Amino acid sequence: MKIATSILNAENRIACIKELNNTTTDYIHIDVMDNKFVPNYQLPVTEVNELGKYTNIPFDIHLMVEDPKTFINNLTIKNTQCLTIHLEIDKDIDGLISYIKTLGIEVGIAIKPNTDIDLIDKYINQIDKVLIMSVEPGFGGQAFLESSIGRIKAIRNKRQDLIIEVDGGINDMTINKIKGLIDIAVVGSYITKNDDYQKAINNLKN
Ligand code: DX5
Ligand code: ZN
Repeated sequence: MKIATSILNAENRIACIKELNNTTTDYIHIDVMDNKFVPNYQLPVTEVNELGKYTNIPFDIHLMVEDPKTFINNLTIKNTQCLTIHLEIDKDIDGLISYIKTLGIEVGIAIKPNTDIDLIDKYINQIDKVLIMSVEPGFGGQAFLESSIGRIKAIRNKRQDLIIEVDGGINDMTINKIKGLIDIAVVGSYITKNDDYQKAINNLKN
């Protein structure tokens, strides 16, 4: 299982990234919000581009925005591993998947906690990853939703080799409910509010 550290709730994001450079985090998870798809506005593309200068750790970018294409077109950093768009946006999802693929970047689809997971079926063979939200998207520091466990299992049954990522409310306790079922855990507060990032990562991985 890999760890993607979300820097959303870090007090100082540049300092946070510099510190993550000294850890074994597999990815840096970047949460992008447009104040339309979710009621919060965070990490404009200019900030993401700036943050990219401080690390070579691959970026895992979670786009909680109605219009992913505008963001993607303004992204200048080279170390983007994956771009994840939301299933619920009112856009041409097939077109966005193809577009991201032409950039040579992995494609993910994120699903909110109350969205019917069967809606993923028509895209499931075109994507690299599903991101299962284990909280309502919009804010860090929320409690893990237990209903996510059944949703993870249902997605795994649909396609065995799909990368399954889970995002929200993961800490050293809740991780035990999903370890073994998932490929990537997105963890924000539990790592970035800890004095020792590496120790927090070790607690999650072991
Ligand atoms: C929520 C974001 C998450 C969040 C995770 O909308 O997608 O990535 O920052 O933070 P924690 O681990 O604090 O729930
Ligand atoms: Zn996220």
